[in-house]
Amino acid sequence: MSCILVTGGAGFIGSAVCRLISSDDNHSVVVVDKLTYAGSTSSLEPVAGNANFTFIRDDIGNRPAMSNILQEHQPDVIMNLAAESHVDRSIDGPSEFINTNIVGTFSLLEASRDYFEQLPDDRKERFRFHHISTDEVFGQLPLEGGKFTEETAYAPSSPYSASKAASDHLVMAWHHTYGLPIVLSNCSNNYGPYHFPEKLIPLVILNAVHEKELPVYGTGANVRDWLYVDDHARALVEIALRGRTGQSYNVGGDAERTNLQVVEGICSILDRLKPRKGNKSYRDLITFVADRPGHDLRYAIDASKITGELGWRPLETFESGLEKTIDWYLENKSWWQPIRENNYRGQRLGSLEKV
Ligand code: NAD
Ligand code: TYD
Repeated sequence: MSCILVTGGAGFIGSAVCRLISSDDNHSVVVVDKLTYAGSTSSLEPVAGNANFTFIRDDIGNRPAMSNILQEHQPDVIMNLAAESHVDRSIDGPSEFINTNIVGTFSLLEASRDYFEQLPDDRKERFRFHHISTDEVFGQLPLEGGKFTEETAYAPSSPYSASKAASDHLVMAWHHTYGLPIVLSNCSNNYGPYHFPEKLIPLVILNAVHEKELPVYGTGANVRDWLYVDDHARALVEIALRGRTGQSYNVGGDAERTNLQVVEGICSILDRLKPRKGNKSYRDLITFVADRPGHDLRYAIDASKITGELGWRPLETFESGLEKTIDWYLENKSWWQPIRENNYRGQRLGSLEKV
């Protein structure tokens, strides 16, 4: 039995990772999560009662607490998903991004290094620190072509991506300097169940259901490469357990879509699953709004390294994953309604315009 400690496990991707690994009796799972606005224990309800599952509310930046947790639970693998994750919020208020993504990761690396150094040799060989990051650290691609590989130079453009880039560099430095056995992964845009409804896909689904405007930044021509969250979770477990230490792996769905295609795709599925009154299409709710400052034009991932080395590939197409996602939001009002009523009501973030 190996113990996997998942930071940020009450978030969107972290909870998908926990739901996946907690279904395997060979693993025990310890979640450490601060429960910011983005974290919700209700995302962990499917596994909360499992004998191999433990939840701890704490901050990765609290070094004494993290050291105690590591000593008590003796993890074989640490998967660091705790982060501030929304670009628009990083534009409005970057300081929490610096605190958690950079200083918090630094603090967790130090606690992990202390812990690692006192492990016996056989356990040292098994130990991994897996840092979960984003393709946004590479900056933007032109519309005409090219994809991010593991060799692409870092060129982050938002406060969010700059903070993630800094954390990636710290993780690599802790490997090269202190010999901490790390693996790093950089993934494209995820979507799926339990996604906090400030991000494009869940925001558009819920705004549509509420007959509200569907805000498209600029002309909607920006391109993202979408990956279904459970496909990402499988990739993360493969990388954590079988990736080569000191290496980074790009993860992506090979599913590039313009934002307008994404929003129109959601409208088409909703028109079929939940027709509006009066035979109108949800497309009538699409509204072009002021662009995001510094809006990256295009992201796209070359995932051939993880496919070649670890045999991973996505199981969902964008169309199948989007249909599953919309179904889930229609069926799981009890998850999103408290969030829409308390944590975030769908207002525009990150525009820099005074309203
Ligand atoms: P999320 O915002 O849904 O969840 C983040 C979780 O971290 C929340 O549960 C929050 O409570 C917790 N958290 C925040 N600060 C913390 C702290 N100081 N200590 C402990 N817990 C803290 O984010 P997500 O979308 O699940 O992303 C997880 C990771 O994956 C992030 O590192 C993100 O950069 C990366 N990533 C996300 C995407 C995406 O499309 N969402 C794509 C690639 C990479
Ligand atoms: P988002 O889900 O915030 O992810 P990221 O910024 O990390 O890519 O946004 C995805 C894309 O959708 C991005 O190009 C910005 C755009 N977008 C809109 O057009 N309207 C919106 O209301 C939001 C939240 C995002």
